[in-house]
Amino acid sequence: LADPTFSQAVIDWQRSHGRHTLPWQNTTDAYRIWLSEIMLQQTQVAAVLGYYARFLERFPTVQALSEAPGEDVMAHWSGLGYYTRARNLHACAKRVVQDYGGVFPSDPALLADLPGIGRSTAAAIAAFSSGARAAILDGNVKRVFARVFGIDQYPGEKKVEDALWRRADALLPEAGIESYTQGLMDLGATLCTRSRPACERCPLQARCVAYATGRTAELPVRKPK
Ligand code: ADE
Ligand code: SF4
Repeated sequence: LADPTFSQAVIDWQRSHGRHTLPWQNTTDAYRIWLSEIMLQQTQVAAVLGYYARFLERFPTVQALSEAPGEDVMAHWSGLGYYTRARNLHACAKRVVQDYGGVFPSDPALLADLPGIGRSTAAAIAAFSSGARAAILDGNVKRVFARVFGIDQYPGEKKVEDALWRRADALLPEAGIESYTQGLMDLGATLCTRSRPACERCPLQARCVAYATGRTAELPVRKPK
């Protein structure tokens, strides 16, 4: 069931306090959005910016990337780390050209079938490039949900993660999926940080179990020994 108050709070906050000028925003080009989401999977925004610009300069389209030598792709990734991402990126570009004529599919399930694209990344790409109503659930969003809903089980456990996905689906807004998705990311990255969250500025404070019960430092629950 939709929870309009939760999603509307996130959307309103994103529109007034979220990030709006990152280089992968204000575009519906799935190639640019996909590239940003892969770079941002394990790397902070500030570290991604330069790589992102240089990468797009050298490989302006998925076609160009698919035709590039592997060493050239690796050279443009060098320094970003987690090099499996770069190998998957190249393989994904080839698949998009081979299987989809160089056009990324808009269906999140088809995106999630491509190399290096998991369920959450697929949802983000689909939401930002075509407004698809699909839920993200990355590490930051898991932390926000664990705190807001006071989930006192380890979110790495399968049944807890499944329950989080059901919640994420149920919370999706009817409209404004781009602002909502970006808002959840921005909240997790800038306010509901792992240590010392900025609850005094948070749009979810009034509905946050962790805040109400003074458990922001205990949630999300850490991996049991
Ligand atoms: N982290 C993952 N995706 C992001 C995005 N679209 N903007 C900012 N940070 C992100
Ligand atoms: Fe996170 Fe604090 Fe907001 Fe709760 S009130 S969601 S702990 S920032």
